[in-house]
Amino acid sequence: ETNENIHQYPLDIKVLNPDETAEVFKYFSESLQDGFVRIGPKGYFFTTGINEVAPSIYNMELKPDDTWVISFPKSGTTWMQELVWLVANDFDYATAEAVPLVARFNFIEGSMFSSKKSLRYYSDETREQLAALFKPPDHIAKLPRFIKSHLPLSLLPPTLLDTCKVVHIARDPRDIAVSYYHHDKRLKLMGYTVLFSPLFDNVKESWEKRNHPNMLFLFYEDALKDLPSTVKRVAKFLGKTVTEEQMSRLCDHLAFDNFKKNKSVNMEIFKKLNLSCKDVSPFIRKGEIKSLIFNIF
Ligand code: A3P
Repeated sequence: ETNENIHQYPLDIKVLNPDETAEVFKYFSESLQDGFVRIGPKGYFFTTGINEVAPSIYNMELKPDDTWVISFPKSGTTWMQELVWLVANDFDYATAEAVPLVARFNFIEGSMFSSKKSLRYYSDETREQLAALFKPPDHIAKLPRFIKSHLPLSLLPPTLLDTCKVVHIARDPRDIAVSYYHHDKRLKLMGYTVLFSPLFDNVKESWEKRNHPNMLFLFYEDALKDLPSTVKRVAKFLGKTVTEEQMSRLCDHLAFDNFKKNKSVNMEIFKKLNLSCKDVSPFIRKGEIKSLIFNIF
């Protein structure tokens, strides 16, 4: 099946040449990573773990009631996933508490992070749990599906916007840079930074589609300044209504201090799997707008 997908993948997957690879390995941990590739005309940058999963994502079968949350990493994805999931599921807080967000929302390219080299460091149990968490695109059983991706639109199925609802959350790149730095320090077996770049191309691909009826383009900064307005926009987009009472409970649930404590979303799971370093900043870290001087968008 994978081979067939590779034949039906129109984008060029270019392995970095030895000189470029040596340059990248100055900054990335060679003991953990197998190598690097760039995909498509914009040269989106990944570890080779993407090679198998990219064609199967591009060719995956879409369902009209799939709901996607897409973003460049560290843009407030987790926050928006929880918002979207709760609005779409009629405020089912019981399930939201019982089932971790990573299990309610499939991270569609998540398997790319298990490099062959890094897998050697994992226990069998961790390997099994990672495989269960990051299922290949065609193995997500539960419907309707909620899917998270950091891939730009050009690497997702071409009929995505004609078929499914997509929310893109964007954030000031300077705050993303700081957040990403802390993120990569936190996760033990990463040994690299700024995958998925170029950031601007990723965001621009969605920005260009912002008026498509199936695309909702949001800014992290807007959500932080006025969460109820963002909730209203998401609800309208998903064809849902929100009462005043539901609004106030949801905004309370999504408030930074509560979110930080919420074990369903705060990625404690990575600590349990022993994938997170000790004594580093937590996943729900600061939640601030630092780059206030001028708005680049
Ligand atoms: P900081 O590291 O700047 O604090 P992602 O989910 O895409 O990885 O994004 C993570 C960023 O979103 C982190 O930014 C995190 O603190 C922030 N975030 C998560 N939950 C939040 C919330 N409830 N309110 C505000 N920011 C939140």
